[in-house]
Order: sequence, then structure tokens, then C-alpha cells
Amino acid sequence: MAVLAVLFSAVMLLSVVSVRTEKHSLYYIYTALSRPVDQSGIYQFTAMGLLDDRQIDYYNNIDQKKIPKQHWMKEKMQEDYWEKGTQSRKSKEQWFNVNVNILMDRMRHNNSDLHVLQWRHGCEIEIQGNEHRFSKGIDEYSYDGRNFLSFDDAESQWVAPVDAALPTKRKWDNVPILNQYTKGYLEKECVDWLNKFREYGDQELRDGYGEYLSEPPIAIIAAIIGVLILLVAIGVTVWILKKKNIIGNKDEKRSMPNGSANYGRGSSA
Ligand SMILES: *[C@@H]1O[C@H](CO)[C@@H](O)[C@H](O)[C@H]1NC(C)=O
Repeated sequence: MAVLAVLFSAVMLLSVVSVRTEKHSLYYIYTALSRPVDQSGIYQFTAMGLLDDRQIDYYNNIDQKKIPKQHWMKEKMQEDYWEKGTQSRKSKEQWFNVNVNILMDRMRHNNSDLHVLQWRHGCEIEIQGNEHRFSKGIDEYSYDGRNFLSFDDAESQWVAPVDAALPTKRKWDNVPILNQYTKGYLEKECVDWLNKFREYGDQELRDGYGEYLSEPPIAIIAAIIGVLILLVAIGVTVWILKKKNIIGNKDEKRSMPNGSANYGRGSSA
């Protein structure tokens, strides 16, 4: 029985670790404040791209320029990528200015407090051997740090967790082509960019970027150690059980009634 269990565990562990899965992600985050804050380093509008959680580009409302944040981005992306990107970020800045005010009205908020509208969109892939697989697409808005509206990629529709988001959900769901575009962006365009950036980032990215669910040498060694520990544990358990049994029998023979514990040692009297 024990031998079978050990063999079974070993096979299970080895089959799990023999498939190496790599995860990679590309996200864009836009953050807009409802009004300027008079503090250095705090911008009313910022945007950035993140490849495997590392910043690859950046934009703010003062410099109004999309700039590279990795040297390989600067080297590999053509001038027109940055020009188009700058135009796109500028128009998003306008969009956010208008929409943060719309949301404040809807929430009955006024300018006495600072409010924040955020948009995050992007995709994640999983790589197993040569197989690249889209695993997740995110497109979501948050207001004052709380989820406001998010895109359900599988259902191709917007999900409104708060009442104030319902008008937006209805409006956007009413233009099916918009949702198809969003789905297409997340599953195809975003994944294409992610792969392109990973290729450009090349050596740097391969040397320790990304999240490894399991890596063969260490995982296999861990599995083997695990199996050995299991074997030893089973062996020790069997040994203890056997020993206990023998000692237990002896103890039973030797054991004496409580009262005789003091026998021969002379009690206080
Ligand atoms: C702004 O909102 C706050 C909190 O709801 C409220 O106390 C204040 O009176 C409002 N100010 C104006 C000018 O409406």
C-alpha cells in the first residue's frame, strides 16, 4: 500500500513539474485627478504601459509626451510610434477631464474633495512549450479606488457593480461593434503587442523577467526531495508504529497499579 502511494505521488509530482508554464502581461494604466494638486511629482493626468509589471512608457499632462521607459523601447520603436502615442495620450487626457466631471455629477460629488478616475486595460498570456495561449483580458474603470465598470471579455459586455455606472454600461453595450472591438483588442491586438515587446526586450526580458509558475531543474529537485521526504516519513511512521506496539506490550506487562508507585521508596511516614 505505502509503496503504491509513494509511486503514485512521485508520478503525480513529476507530471506536474514537467510542464513549465510562463506567464506574461501587458497593461496600460491611466489615472486622472478631478483637479490639479499643488505638489511636485503629482500630475493631474498620467498614463503608463507595464510589461510584466515593469514600466515601458510614460505620459503626464505637463510634459504631454509619451516617452520610453526602457532603453530597448527607445531603440526598437520608431519615431512615429511615439508621435502617434503622444497624440493618443493627449486625446485620452481630454476624455478623462470630461468624464471625471460627468462621474462627479452623477455621484453628486463636488470640487471640495479630490476624486480619481482610473482606467486599466491589458492582457495576459501563458506559454507552455511552444504554445502561446491568451489567458486573460482586463478592461476596467475605477472611481475613487473602487471598481466602477469592467468588461466581461467572455460575455462581451460591461459589468456595472454600482448604480452610477449603469447609464454608462447601457450606453456602451448598445453599440455592439464597440464591445467587439474591445474584445478583439484584448484577445488579439494586445497579445500581438505583448509578444512584440517581449521579442524586442529580448535578452533582458528572458533573463528573469516574467513570472514562472514552475521551472524544471528546481521543480524537479523539489519533487524528488518531496518524494524522499514522503518515503522517509512513511518509513519512520511504520517503524514508530511497530516499535510502539512492542514497547506498548512490554509496558502493559510491567505496569503497576497506581498505589504501588511509592512502593519501596519509603513515603514520608
Ligand atoms: C460639497 O460636498 C460636500 C460633501 O458632500 C458638502 O458638505 C459641501 O457642502 C459641498 N459644497 C458645495 C459648494 O456644494
